[in-house]
Amino acid sequence: MSTTTKVVLGFTDGVEHELLVQPGHSVLDAALEGEVPILFQCRTGSCGSCLARLVEGKAEHRSGLAVSLLPGEREQGYRLLCATEPKGECRFSVAYDSAAGAGRPIEAKCFVNAVERIANDVIRFELELAEGYSMDFRPGQFIQIKVPGTEVVRSYSMATMASDLPRIELLIRILPGGIMSGWLENQAKPDDVVEIRGPYGQFFLKEKVREPHIMIAGGTGLAPMLSMLAALRRVPGRKPKTILSFGCQSPEGLFALDQLDLHQQWSPTLQVRIAVDRGTPPAGVQVGNPVEALTPADGLTPDSVAYLCGPPGMIAAARAHLEALGLAPGNIFAEQFVASN
Ligand code: FES
Repeated sequence: MSTTTKVVLGFTDGVEHELLVQPGHSVLDAALEGEVPILFQCRTGSCGSCLARLVEGKAEHRSGLAVSLLPGEREQGYRLLCATEPKGECRFSVAYDSAAGAGRPIEAKCFVNAVERIANDVIRFELELAEGYSMDFRPGQFIQIKVPGTEVVRSYSMATMASDLPRIELLIRILPGGIMSGWLENQAKPDDVVEIRGPYGQFFLKEKVREPHIMIAGGTGLAPMLSMLAALRRVPGRKPKTILSFGCQSPEGLFALDQLDLHQQWSPTLQVRIAVDRGTPPAGVQVGNPVEALTPADGLTPDSVAYLCGPPGMIAAARAHLEALGLAPGNIFAEQFVASN
């Protein structure tokens, strides 16, 4: 008699995969064994990349494992597949199509093209994928970089698109005492070699959605939005209404304003709102926060789709605000970053 458990994984394009999960194995283990295109990264329950929703049956996270899910998310059926064992036949759905996970993460070498300070605490870091490597990614995904001379790994979202490869642009917040920050400020120079891994993450543009797209970015959380805006510009036919609300702590922290201005000129359906917490803002920038810049007058619908990228406090406030404005919780996607030294 078989001791395996049947699990079905459903993708947004209607594709379904049936897995047989061995006792003691996670749903992700079985998916990878069966070459099912599931997104993942850490395999330890900490990164959130393998998020799925349990829609039928019973499945729980392994006991004693600390997973990065809020209790409320667990109650809504969300599970991290790398930490989940089925308790009988069950079915999960993921919030992306079956092509998204088809390109597996790669390990590659890159050359440093440029290291440029563009705000008081932000560096534009431009890399070039070395010859012989090929990578694909969706607008909004991230890569990991090993800080040269260490075993320390940091994650950053691409501000460019896959079609810009071999060029990759990252926006990196400089933290006092940060290991990557110290290397960037004191040692990094053109033609240095860095090791990268990726792409990773479920946070990417839903290009087929024609309802309004809302983007809320705090600080360097702007990077994935720049990649998404560039991709939206190339969507054929009518572009969805898009509102980008970008906030920084002070006027000295602002960056990429010319780029945002160009995006507005290219895309008549794009509105950009910029805010700083304090200080005297330049023309066109408000004092306030990027979350409150969205109001009932924006006419958001439950089917509008929102992308949030920034610190945890901003993500929580934005989620609550957008739900109050009528967005369906399942249409709000977030990538939160936590400062690490
Ligand atoms: S792969 Fe990171 S939480 Fe599952």
